[in-house]
Amino acid sequence: MLARDPQARTPPADGPDGVSHFGDNREMVPTIAFSESVDGVDWRALKAALAADDFDNGRTPDEYETSHRNSFGAVFAIDGDRYVGNARILSDGVCNAYVVDVWTATAYRRRGIGSELVRRMLARVPGQHVYLFTDDMAEFYRRLGFSVQPDGMGMVVGSWLSRDPRP
Ligand SMILES: CC(C)(COP(=O)(O)OP(=O)(O)OC[C@H]1O[C@@H](n2cnc3c(N)ncnc32)[C@H](O)[C@@H]1OP(=O)(O)O)[C@@H](O)C(=O)NCCC(=O)NCCS
Repeated sequence: MLARDPQARTPPADGPDGVSHFGDNREMVPTIAFSESVDGVDWRALKAALAADDFDNGRTPDEYETSHRNSFGAVFAIDGDRYVGNARILSDGVCNAYVVDVWTATAYRRRGIGSELVRRMLARVPGQHVYLFTDDMAEFYRRLGFSVQPDGMGMVVGSWLSRDPRP
């Protein structure tokens, strides 16, 4: 399997199109392409993939696009014409960054894709302090070098996505 091969965890070199390939040259391995460009993304397809995997938090396709374009970095894992992974990093460009929206499609998990997504986002922010919140994936992030820092706090300003909170 893809990530059981130690070589498969090595970040691949980007191709000339800004899309890099993870796991090609290996038999029996699906070819996953990683793209860090927000141009040419099919935002409807991304939302549909997230919704199908129960990881859509209510944004419209246009809002997904705005979220990604306003991020410091974004990455997509693509299998053929399907989005199978995604992550973003927010940053002030100097010292503070946040990793958000880390997702690997259920059928593709435990193959190193999520780790590759996060590593690519961390590579965008050398020297910066990177924060994140997780409900139940602490082990995944611990393996990537994160440690628990107590007393993280958060709130939603007004209602989520400024939607009418009434059903
Ligand atoms: C969290 C998530 C992105 C991990 O993606 P992934 O592609 O499966 O991650 P990786 O294959 O790179 O996992 C690397 C290591 O992290 C740890 N890990 C991953 N998923 C784990 C889980 N569900 N429980 C415990 N450890 C886990 C394992 O140590 C794993 O190594 P191993 O497979 O050799 O045991 C994926 O499970 C996911 O999208 N979950 C739903 C969305 C979510 O919770 N995102 C995080 C929001 S903070």
